[in-house]
Amino acid sequence: LNIDLPDEQVRSEAGQKLKISVYFATWWALNVVFNIYNKKVLNAFPYPWLTSTLSLAMGSLIMLTSWATRIVEAPKTDPEFWKSLFPVAVAHTIGHVAATVSMSKVAVSFTHIIKSGEPAFSVLVSRFLLGESFPATVYLSLVPIIGGCALSAATELNFNMTGFMGAMISNLAFVFRNIFSKRGMKGKAVSGMNYYACLSIMSLLILTPFAIAVEGPQMWTAGWQTALSQIGPNFIWWVVAQSVFYHLYNQVSYMSLDQISPLTFSIGNTMKRISVIVSSIIIFSTPVQPINALGAAIAILGTFLYSQAKQ
Ligand code: 3PG
Repeated sequence: LNIDLPDEQVRSEAGQKLKISVYFATWWALNVVFNIYNKKVLNAFPYPWLTSTLSLAMGSLIMLTSWATRIVEAPKTDPEFWKSLFPVAVAHTIGHVAATVSMSKVAVSFTHIIKSGEPAFSVLVSRFLLGESFPATVYLSLVPIIGGCALSAATELNFNMTGFMGAMISNLAFVFRNIFSKRGMKGKAVSGMNYYACLSIMSLLILTPFAIAVEGPQMWTAGWQTALSQIGPNFIWWVVAQSVFYHLYNQVSYMSLDQISPLTFSIGNTMKRISVIVSSIIIFSTPVQPINALGAAIAILGTFLYSQAKQ
């Protein structure tokens, strides 16, 4: 079909596809590493509010340093920009903390199986809160998504209500985050990388007082000492790794959100979850019953049907 297109256009389309594939592969790889270190840290140090705060703090530090040293050009922002960023930052903070609390209570794979149900939340929010309507096939695709997640949750060996609810809250919060941030990025001069940097800084400011109120320095000091005595100095590197990789995977995902539609983004996100689910089951030797795996497979198949139906 490209036969009639000028050479240059064909080349630039191929270049764009290659660029997006590289973004996607990098995004998934960084995300797998984040999930593994995050869980290793949470197993030894069960304080998800602090680890979520540290991830945002690391991202803020990396970006403030990059701006100060001019490795990255700082964005030109006005009060209007920060005002429109606020709801995105609230949603990002809630979604991030909720997912981390979830992963501190259940297997990483279980959190991500529930999180693969995000398209269902997206449809329900768009339908009931934004008044959008979809073809019947889109609604039908929610049946395997919701059914698969429910089957997986009902047969999960180590089910925990906080873990389950954390993943559900994260789904809802991230639907809002994605709607608001795509709107906020449209027509703005701020790049995906800088947009995510500003988002990290604002989320860090929002989250810090809550983290202190919910957990606080006393618990952290005691927990930190226990973790250090059990794991040794490597524990500090695990914390650094989970924080750096959290920032990097999100930064790359925002750099790709800049280039693609929310729909392509959500397909990429589902494929990312498959890599996380499979790798975390192998690395943490998570016990999985066949019926449980079947639920996950049905839910993931549902998200693909959903993307087909939306196209
Ligand atoms: C977080 O801590 O923010 C979650 O692990 C993020 O989940 P997601 O980016 O895979 O949706």
